Amino acid sequence: MSNFQTLIKERRSVYTLGAHVKLTQDEITKILQSCLKNAPSAFNSQSTRMIVLYDKSYHAFWHMVEQTLRKIVPDDKFEATKQRIASFDAGVGTVLFFEDENVIQSLKERMPIYEDRFTIWAEHANAMVQYMVWDALAEQNIGASLQHYNPLIDEGVYQMFDVPKTWRLVAQMPFGSKEKVPNPKTFEPIENRFKVFV
Ligand SMILES: Cc1cc2nc3c(=O)[nH]c(=O)nc-3n(C[C@H](O)[C@H](O)[C@H](O)COP(=O)(O)O)c2cc1C
Repeated sequence: MSNFQTLIKERRSVYTLGAHVKLTQDEITKILQSCLKNAPSAFNSQSTRMIVLYDKSYHAFWHMVEQTLRKIVPDDKFEATKQRIASFDAGVGTVLFFEDENVIQSLKERMPIYEDRFTIWAEHANAMVQYMVWDALAEQNIGASLQHYNPLIDEGVYQMFDVPKTWRLVAQMPFGSKEKVPNPKTFEPIENRFKVFV
């Protein structure tokens, strides 16, 4: 099996994170930048934006998520929420993925024939970057998961990190050392999902 096939098999949602990562923040940042730079996008529009949080910013972010959820999660469910957030906060960083609505709007104006497509293509492009990052982290033996606390946390993110208002938060990816092996995954029969015609 090629390295790539092994990698895509081994990438999993890793929720129980730790701080035992060998790479430096600079090394991780370079990997993330390379994913963002080289990812495909509709008309090479490059509308995806990323912020990576480490150290103080990272812990402050998860604290804000916890405080935000505290206001809406019922008391009897909050302990589980708190533990989940603590497991993300125990890692080494979090990537925030955004789409820049300015870029999407200008594409719509320049190419009205695709007006109703650009938003969905931007979502596709964003997902491609997310997946590249997830694989690139897995390649370094760094565990990660994909989270969607937006739009609940949008205001908090704008305030904390001086994010341009045209950047729309799409997803969050906490990462760190893998402290628990994920449960085995179940698969739909591939023949129900895939057809070949010759
Ligand atoms: C579009 C998309 C949205 C997801 N949203 C979440 C999420 O909000 N929270 C979460 O814990 N996992 C989320 N996941 C992770 C999936 O639950 C996970 O990928 C799936 O169960 C397969 O497990 P694996 O990642 O270990 O292969 C999301 C995955 C995708 C592709």
